[in-house]
Amino acid sequence: MSIVIREMTIQDYDGVLALWRTSEGVGLSDADSEESIARYLDRNPGLSFVARDGEHLVGAVLCGHDGRRGYIHHLAVSESHRRQGLGRALVERCLSALRRDGIGKCHIFVFAGSQDTSAFWKSIGWTQRLELIVMSQYTR
Ligand SMILES: CC(C)(COP(=O)(O)OP(=O)(O)OC[C@H]1O[C@@H](n2cnc3c(N)ncnc32)[C@H](O)[C@@H]1OP(=O)(O)O)[C@@H](O)C(=O)NCCC(=O)NCCS
Repeated sequence: MSIVIREMTIQDYDGVLALWRTSEGVGLSDADSEESIARYLDRNPGLSFVARDGEHLVGAVLCGHDGRRGYIHHLAVSESHRRQGLGRALVERCLSALRRDGIGKCHIFVFAGSQDTSAFWKSIGWTQRLELIVMSQYTR
């Protein structure tokens, strides 16, 4: 593989959205509009990445932090490029960027029941938090 991983910019948006749309396990919402992603990248410089194989965008991950903890969202690798270490490499880039920013721990949200995805995270060293549930509310 001649894969290049580099920081995501908003110019990557169309390709990244196309990858997310075809990736099971990535839940999209109004928070993924071009405007929202541009704001996210501005607020979290140097933390989100894309992987390219030549012309083709084959991986993407959003990462940010709130000053205390890091959060990874929407990790996706093209089906054609899975099981070659690319998912792990993208996550490692995020963790290393978080460390550089002084952030000591990172969280992810995984859809309950997606066993392949859970197996991926566990196999790269992440711990499932059985004592926590996620709760949400709209601000409007
Ligand atoms: C999850 C995903 C990003 C993994 O990407 P990937 O590049 O294939 O992952 P890697 O090759 O780095 O895998 C690292 C290890 O994770 C484990 N793993 C990866 N995919 C797995 C699967 N489908 N089932 C079980 N274990 C898996 C393996 O142990 C693998 O190491 P190995 O190939 O040497 O056995 C990819 O399958 C994907 O895009 N899925 C759809 C979107 C998604 O679910 N994203 C996560 C949102 S939280």
